[in-house]
Amino acid sequence: MRGVRGMLGRTLRAEKELPQENAMVLGTLASIRSVVPGFHVDSPLGEEGFWLTTEQVHGFHCLIVTAKADRGVLYGVFALLSRMARNEEVVALNEVQQPYAPLRWVNQWDNLDGGIERGYGGRSIFFEDGRVRTDLTLVREYARLLASIGINGCAINNVNANPRLLQEDFLPQFARIADAFREWGIRIAIAIDLSSPKVIGGLDTFDPLDPRPIEWWREKVDAIYRRIPDFGGFVVKADSEGRPGPSIYGRTPVDAANVIASALKPHGGIVFYRAFVYDHHLNWQDSKSDRAKAAYDTFHPLDGKFDDNVIIQTKHGPIDFQVREPVSPLFGGLQHTNVSIELQITQEYTGQQRHLCFLPSMWKEVLDFDLQLNRNGTPVKDVVSGKTFRRSIGGLVGVANVGTDASWLSHPLAMANLYGFGRLAWNPDLSPRAIAEEWTRLTFGSDPAVVNTICEMQVNSWRVYESYTGPLGAQTLTDILGSHYGPGVESSERNGWGQWHRADHEGVGIDRTVATGTGYVGQYSLPVAKMYESLESTPDEQLLFFHHVPYTHLLRSGKSVIQYIYDSHYEGAEHAAGNVLQWKLLRGRIDEPRYSDVLARLEYQAGHSIVWRDAVCNWFLRASGIPDEKHRVGNYPDRIEAEAMQLAGYSIVNVVPRENASGGKAIECLQPRGCKASFQFTRDAGWYEIDVVYFDQSNGDSSFRVLVCNQLVDEWVANDTLPATKIGGDSSMRRRIRGLALRPGDEIRIVGTPDMEEHAPLDYVEIHGLQK
Ligand code: GCU
Repeated sequence: MRGVRGMLGRTLRAEKELPQENAMVLGTLASIRSVVPGFHVDSPLGEEGFWLTTEQVHGFHCLIVTAKADRGVLYGVFALLSRMARNEEVVALNEVQQPYAPLRWVNQWDNLDGGIERGYGGRSIFFEDGRVRTDLTLVREYARLLASIGINGCAINNVNANPRLLQEDFLPQFARIADAFREWGIRIAIAIDLSSPKVIGGLDTFDPLDPRPIEWWREKVDAIYRRIPDFGGFVVKADSEGRPGPSIYGRTPVDAANVIASALKPHGGIVFYRAFVYDHHLNWQDSKSDRAKAAYDTFHPLDGKFDDNVIIQTKHGPIDFQVREPVSPLFGGLQHTNVSIELQITQEYTGQQRHLCFLPSMWKEVLDFDLQLNRNGTPVKDVVSGKTFRRSIGGLVGVANVGTDASWLSHPLAMANLYGFGRLAWNPDLSPRAIAEEWTRLTFGSDPAVVNTICEMQVNSWRVYESYTGPLGAQTLTDILGSHYGPGVESSERNGWGQWHRADHEGVGIDRTVATGTGYVGQYSLPVAKMYESLESTPDEQLLFFHHVPYTHLLRSGKSVIQYIYDSHYEGAEHAAGNVLQWKLLRGRIDEPRYSDVLARLEYQAGHSIVWRDAVCNWFLRASGIPDEKHRVGNYPDRIEAEAMQLAGYSIVNVVPRENASGGKAIECLQPRGCKASFQFTRDAGWYEIDVVYFDQSNGDSSFRVLVCNQLVDEWVANDTLPATKIGGDSSMRRRIRGLALRPGDEIRIVGTPDMEEHAPLDYVEIHGLQK
């Protein structure tokens, strides 16, 4: 009713009996048969599938939405509404749909204090100040949103779980969330801390084989089910990144998972045990040590020993949601165990919803990847849905991390990722383009110019982001010790986290071969291992993940690795700039608030892609000593470095790492009343645009004024919210001042006024001539 009214402005009348007029009829097969005898479905319907059809009932034209169970009817109604919203025909429908995978879950990494781990869309919709929120309106809306794309479960708290969640007083609070989700066919789960029997249960152990913790879990689970009879189960992160786990007692993940599983089993609950188990104190000096091997090494030997209500939840790649990784070999290593694939909707390593990065393009490649476990072809999608090894449960889990932001994930175009996750979990055979198109029509309407522009931008965006952040399988060259956002090429090297790419003066990449490397390649099936073992047959886009090569190594295109690194970064940044122009063509075709919001983000991305480009290219220029054939890297003729300007009050600072600021230096103002940096314009008279590149930290709101020959041409306050409290690649920002008439000899002056810990920092100014 609400959907039709919202879209068509018409209020339908709801009735429980079959009306004596044309109607839409919704109901389970059994209920429809009771009023329309002889009604039958041509093809069998699964538990959650639905059928949309039309039929003459008592002489009236009826549009029928039916399914075996209520949840299927609900999905059918959403499919019908979606068709209407996309302007598709609904008159002569005959469509049966079944979901591909039984489990289509999202995980939220929400903390009790209302923050969200790796969340970029505002505060938690579930928690606030250590409790479940009083007002759960947003939770109900989220549940409806998830149901509309076929999601049937949601784990509501951070995998780095707070044991307090299992305390008695929390149970009624969870029950409220479960109630809100239940109406929309969604079960809830919670992430638990395995040491809970000790930390909150008062026992002196949480050894999974000790009878006391076993009993503790049984009682805890029984209590949960008394309040929440359809409770989904637990998500477990253990022995990972400092989280306690069974290894403390010399026990295995099987011991831990099965204890909890047997407590859940009588109630129909599931344990999602995460395969993200690795040692983050690896010895980087050992050329054989390799984090990528950890999940397989831990879980493959345990295959077949887990209870049948345990699911091993495995990230899609062996490392950690990087912009490009090969598929985790563990999907082939668990043939007698239930599995699910964990995908990351929240863009932790892919631009944090400040950059456009449409992830279904990546997920689709992952799901279609053939693990070659038998001759018939074994794509990942068939393994995780349970088809390949005939498992009764399995599926897809997406780390969503929506928040209180009006558009849930902050960037209005980022919701296409959540939508796309749901659609792929329902039907992994959809193309990324088809998903982008559905989403765009549902979100922005069917104007062909809008649909084409947004779809093009979306489907290209993952490769664009990859091209300026981590090409050739080098993973994301971000600051892995901090924000996971801006460039930090060397941050991954020489530490225990194991996200190395081993770049030195000679070459780059990790040798993971069996013959000479870490041996990781041997974890795949023979045909896949054969492909990755050889340098020749490894696809270029994964090259540096599997092989260490000299910078002069020639790719299949005939280009050297180093030139590819330079070129891809320049192409990526150009593409990001092109998106701004494309978007501007949509002015007037999209409502003003969303038009402006997206425009500002695309402009920011275009600027930040240059920060990435310059940092990565300059780092590799310095490391390799091989210049860019096209003379771009290290040469910026239109740039005036802040440190080269005439400074009054400003002082020069070295930026670390140095490639994260142009020329390795910036200027800062420590005078409370402000400082000046000026230079003379020396080019021909004409119209120009200037970019002022400054730093916007989260610990202050400095202000800037730009004057040309004493005339104020622009002023702003640096008050954006970027993940940075210091000068560097995370905080770099660009302000573009357009339409300036400049003459030789003009003085351009920037006046910066510091605020708190942010000292009106400036990097450089770049001047672009405009065509006459
Ligand atoms: C990443 C992420 C962490 C998260 C972890 C996980 O490493 O940065 O914040 O806790 O993944 O998936 O458990």
